[in-house]
Amino acid sequence: MQMPGGHKVKSYPEIVYFNGEWMKYDQAKISVFDRGFMFGDGIYEVTPFYEGKAFGLQEHLARLQYSMDEIMIELDAASLKPIMVEAISKSGLSSADAAVYIQVSRGVAPRTHYFPEDVEPTILIYAFPASLKAFENKQWSVLVSEDLRWHRCDIKSTSLLANVKSNTQSHRLGLDENLLLRNGLFTEGSHSTIFFIKNNVVYTHPEGPQILSGITRKFVMEICKELNIDVIEEAFPFSHLNTVDEAFLTGTTTQVMAVKEMFTDGNKIYDKPEIGSLTRKIQQAFIQKTRNL
Ligand code: PDD
Repeated sequence: MQMPGGHKVKSYPEIVYFNGEWMKYDQAKISVFDRGFMFGDGIYEVTPFYEGKAFGLQEHLARLQYSMDEIMIELDAASLKPIMVEAISKSGLSSADAAVYIQVSRGVAPRTHYFPEDVEPTILIYAFPASLKAFENKQWSVLVSEDLRWHRCDIKSTSLLANVKSNTQSHRLGLDENLLLRNGLFTEGSHSTIFFIKNNVVYTHPEGPQILSGITRKFVMEICKELNIDVIEEAFPFSHLNTVDEAFLTGTTTQVMAVKEMFTDGNKIYDKPEIGSLTRKIQQAFIQKTRNL
């Protein structure tokens, strides 16, 4: 369904995997004492499946493992692999473009500020159809706002309050995404990685606690290397925006999306009505990489 602003209304998945069993989405129930509910004490991951085939599966599982290790949730991420594949087939998405959502919360325990021990994690997995095609024909308009997040954005935590608050602001303005600024430097989008191009050099924020280490980011950097495009992993200053030739966003559900306009406080501060030539090259190479598995 299409809303006036162009945003799609999402529907629930028919079937979900919840703590060892497959069930209808409305049969899956958590305790009010689940720490995911109480504290956002959990981790998530989103993996793309192009026409039924996973892309970057090892990388996504490794990031899931990293995030769980960082907050001491004990679970072998690789053990979820067959369930991810099953989620796609059980949801009738074996030949469609889709993504698999995994969420692992610490589990159920009496409320304490410290992590309780010997708690069974709560596991939710489901597949959903995703638009992974035709991004090369679109451009996004984005809002630039303050990065209100914590200092461990490398952990893919379900505690996304700052991300969803900022994204709501852009959504309500009919925009597609928001770019976050910390100390005058671009970090990333609310659910995507930002790249800038200036004088044929690509800039993106270095890995570390200020950003999520994007899997799509990693593949795009590989592509740049293959195409002999220089990449500098440096945070791009807001004050240099007027020197930018092209900008694009990457992410599992975003793919490689050219940025058309940027706004802040009601003012347009960036305006590129056409997709730039380097962005197009990278998009084409990305399509090759993901569609010829
Ligand atoms: N978001 N940065 C943030 C804050 C993200 O949430 C995401 C992904 C990315 C891009 O990472 P990747 O290329 O690995 O998808 C960067 C997912 C898709 C989400 O929240 O739905």
